[in-house]
Amino acid sequence: MSTQAFTETARALVAGSRGLLAMDESNPTCNARFAALGIPQTEDARRTYRDWIVSAPGLSEYISGAILYDETIRQRTRAGAPFARAVADAGMIPGIKVDTGAKSMAGHPGEMITEGLDGLRDRLAEYARMGARFAKWRAVITVGADIPSRGCIAANMQALARYAALCQEAGLVAVVEPEVLMDGAHTLERCSGVTEDVLRALFGQLYTQRVALEGLLLKPSMVLPGSTCPRQESVDEVADATVKCLLRAVPAAVPGIAFLSGGQAGELASARLNAMNARFKARLPWALAFSFARAIQQPALEIWKGEQAHVGAAQRALCHRARCNSAARRGEYGSAMEGA
Ligand code: G3H
Repeated sequence: MSTQAFTETARALVAGSRGLLAMDESNPTCNARFAALGIPQTEDARRTYRDWIVSAPGLSEYISGAILYDETIRQRTRAGAPFARAVADAGMIPGIKVDTGAKSMAGHPGEMITEGLDGLRDRLAEYARMGARFAKWRAVITVGADIPSRGCIAANMQALARYAALCQEAGLVAVVEPEVLMDGAHTLERCSGVTEDVLRALFGQLYTQRVALEGLLLKPSMVLPGSTCPRQESVDEVADATVKCLLRAVPAAVPGIAFLSGGQAGELASARLNAMNARFKARLPWALAFSFARAIQQPALEIWKGEQAHVGAAQRALCHRARCNSAARRGEYGSAMEGA
């Protein structure tokens, strides 16, 4: 595939007012969410869950691309289609999570390093043959009294850049996800400083590794106060801080920024994305979109609870959150939509 092809895919993923659905929870994460709701933690339950998500009527009106997990891309829907084809037939672009998870980082207590580079070239070629057109890799940055360390930021950002270079070699768009965790009591200002350091390191590494910025999407966390920080800024203050930080650190050649939700409640994530677009969209060089997992799926999962009889209602709840976030891309989301 030519550079132009993955550049066009990157633009297509953030075109209009659609965004990404991250339905790529690893088996342990998916099982933990199922266990909390009494859903059996089996391969078939995970397949059934992903099947009704992908086949939710009207989902592609709001979702441009769906990120799958390794187990899922190897499965078939109940109708017999491989999942990547089912996603494409439903009007969305199939993507794949390719990191193998964040592990404790040697010599860096309390910090994590994401693994998965070994054998990645071959895995990317296989995923591309299966129909994936973009990939995702998540790096985790923890904020604490003396962390993140320089070593943790440098190692994670270099891994993200090496992953992105391999993606583009395979003709896939690289979604690069440096997540600054919201766990902790740190302030919004501290999150902003850490996020800016991380993004500057990331774009330095992407340049060093010769990654084409036009063929990637950035998937960052919003700039937020820690979840136990006594001061929780308003929606507009979060929007201002996030956009200010991104403008300082993200080159204009990047076509789009698709936020992760990071554990924010669905309505709050929509409101914050909406405020960014309503206040700044006309002045920004890149699209501001979403690539949420929990903030789109969680209410639907809680309705489904593993029961076939609840699938229709769960699909409607899923599409509702997707519709709210699509409206937020246009700066047209409001609490009135939640009663609709
Ligand atoms: O890697 C994490 C997902 O892509 C985003 O998940 O929106 O629940 O934070 P989240």
